[in-house]
Amino acid sequence: MKLTAEQLRSFDEEGYVFFPNCFSEEEVALLRTEGEAILQQDRQEVWREKTGAPRTAFAAHTFNEVFRLMAHHPRLVEPLRQYFGEEVYVHQFKLNAKAAFEGDVWQWHQDYGTWARDDGMPEPRAMNIAIFLDEVYPINGPLMLIPKTHKQGVFAAGHDKLTTSYPLWTLDKETVTRLAEEAAPKGGVGIVAPTGKPGSVLMFHGNLVHASPPNITPYPRKIVYLTLCAVSNHITKFTRPEWIAHRDFTPIVPVADDALLAYARAHRIAAE
Ligand code: SIN
Ligand code: MN
Repeated sequence: MKLTAEQLRSFDEEGYVFFPNCFSEEEVALLRTEGEAILQQDRQEVWREKTGAPRTAFAAHTFNEVFRLMAHHPRLVEPLRQYFGEEVYVHQFKLNAKAAFEGDVWQWHQDYGTWARDDGMPEPRAMNIAIFLDEVYPINGPLMLIPKTHKQGVFAAGHDKLTTSYPLWTLDKETVTRLAEEAAPKGGVGIVAPTGKPGSVLMFHGNLVHASPPNITPYPRKIVYLTLCAVSNHITKFTRPEWIAHRDFTPIVPVADDALLAYARAHRIAAE
């Protein structure tokens, strides 16, 4: 999959690009089943909300074959190789549960703020790719973005270790208010929340300001975040565990485009 000239232009201008229905229902069903099983596991990579509900499973691509295939999937890897003009490696892999009724807030932040401060990543030449495993509605804790904020570098941030179970470098209310005002079209608001069917994909710039509200609905909102980094831009500081900020900078060799389907079909036949 290649980004079109229009998608590249829109990405440069807005800081994100959205691909509805990038993965089929059969592919997503496999990912969802495996993801739900991982979130139940008791292991160091699975972090919980303060209530005990699952929040994030890190590094599932290192211990689960289906997520290994996803992290090496050409529909995700090729657009980033194209954009960065070089090979990429996996910097981080998160499955965020945003559980029904209990999924907690993600405060306003920039991902590159954390990658630079905590991991010594030289440049914002890394990007998050969000893959929706459940339908994302306006009401179940969607990811909210402030368009165009990727053009202003890294903002001052405070290290919030208290609000949720996951420490994050977060922006203050004044900065978010100013940025939303700047991004607002005439008569509108300056925050967008892309919604869509399971299998939709959202790529967003490492400096794009984003957040998500708690999920108080009965509808879970699982999203996988695959963070790919240009190989020449690999991290230089190892302050976080290896399974949060990876230290294997080997370029990704993509799998076949039908790898998830082949896996699903082979395992269905084996189970029959
Ligand atoms: C993130 O910003 O890394 C996660 C946000 C979310 O899952 O809502
Ligand atoms: Mn983030």
